[in-house]
Amino acid sequence: MAIISSKKQPQEPDGQPKRRRESAKEHTSPKAAAIEDLLQPQATPDEQSKQEESIRPQRFADYIGQKDLKDVLDIAIKAAKARGETLDHLLLYGPPGLGKTTMSLILATEMGVDCKITSAPALERPRDIVGLLMSLKPGDILFIDEIHRLSRMTEEILYPAMEDYRVDITIGKGSSAKTRSISLPRFTLVGATTRMGALTSPLRDRFGLIQRLRFYEPDELSQIVLRTAQLLQVTITDDGAEEVARRSRGTPRIANRLLKRVRDYAQVKSAKLISQDVAAQALELFQVDPCGLDWTDRCLLRAMISQFNGGPVGVETMAAATGEDTQTIEEVYEPYLMQIGYLHRTPRGRIATPSAYKHLGFTPPNEQLSLLP
Ligand SMILES: Nc1ncnc2c1ncn2[C@@H]1O[C@H](COP(=O)(O)OP(=O)(O)OP(=O)(O)O)[C@@H](O)[C@H]1O
Ligand SMILES: [Mg+2]
Repeated sequence: MAIISSKKQPQEPDGQPKRRRESAKEHTSPKAAAIEDLLQPQATPDEQSKQEESIRPQRFADYIGQKDLKDVLDIAIKAAKARGETLDHLLLYGPPGLGKTTMSLILATEMGVDCKITSAPALERPRDIVGLLMSLKPGDILFIDEIHRLSRMTEEILYPAMEDYRVDITIGKGSSAKTRSISLPRFTLVGATTRMGALTSPLRDRFGLIQRLRFYEPDELSQIVLRTAQLLQVTITDDGAEEVARRSRGTPRIANRLLKRVRDYAQVKSAKLISQDVAAQALELFQVDPCGLDWTDRCLLRAMISQFNGGPVGVETMAAATGEDTQTIEEVYEPYLMQIGYLHRTPRGRIATPSAYKHLGFTPPNEQLSLLP
């Protein structure tokens, strides 16, 4: 399996993931900042290491949850194999850390082909993508991470490659320039993005399959924790795994990260196995909220409740009140808060739900009324 460049670019031109964290940290204590990192869905440099690869599921059977996605891909793989064809181009979208890269590697293994991994910021010049396309063998998978960030030129080279399996290259300059068309073997492009809305429609339309990844349910995350614990040779009870799962924001990457911190705690405290108590004590020490909320989540909800009577409040106003940027609020924080039922998006703005009031120790407005004489 060839990996061209699986690393995220830390200095991104629009610098979003990095800048987001920094902007939030300006408002936190050092302790809170460390906790925030623990609950960030983006991969840390450590998590791009070899050891991390060893806990990544390799086969369909090890990929826990995402039933809808697996059902669709299972049929697509079986049909493509039976016809002796390649898979349709596939676009995977969803929040960070839910298993997009993992799924594309599994697809390659299941199809018995190679997977070349790259990310859009690494394909700046036209020759980067041309070189990559020309190195593909029949059936190979080309995985492009952060595909919404492709440059226009690269995107235009991809169109005929995706549709007609050819690249058009221009040789020479000025009036003597000639265009040559080179045919490519049939291949499958797998694109991954956390921002479906930022994709151009001509690119989106060229994918045969478009699939969304969802946050994981607590029981699915528990299974992931149990599986990782086995690979790391850590003994954990079922309720210990549930405790870690509950605080993982529906995200396998966070579940695995929290498990490692709990493992350290158990080792230092000489606990032979990770029970629910040990897991809860460790995660309380790291100030991981029982629902997986981080400092920014709580800050957003608190601002909505105490400054705007629980909403409706516009996202720009929330951004101004908390010092976070609107895109991060919309893409990183709100999806999870909506998933756990703490926030609703309405046409008039965002609303904090009664569960959010209770979680932060406020009395929900309907209960406040019933307290009146
Ligand atoms: N379904 C799953 N079952 C078990 N483990 C999983 C699953 N999905 C993801 N993981 C674990 O979570 C980690 C993160 O997954 P992955 O790198 O595929 O996320 P991603 O969606 O590509 O994230 P990003 O958007 O940041 O690139 C993997 O290393 C893997 O160990
Ligand atoms: Mg990825």
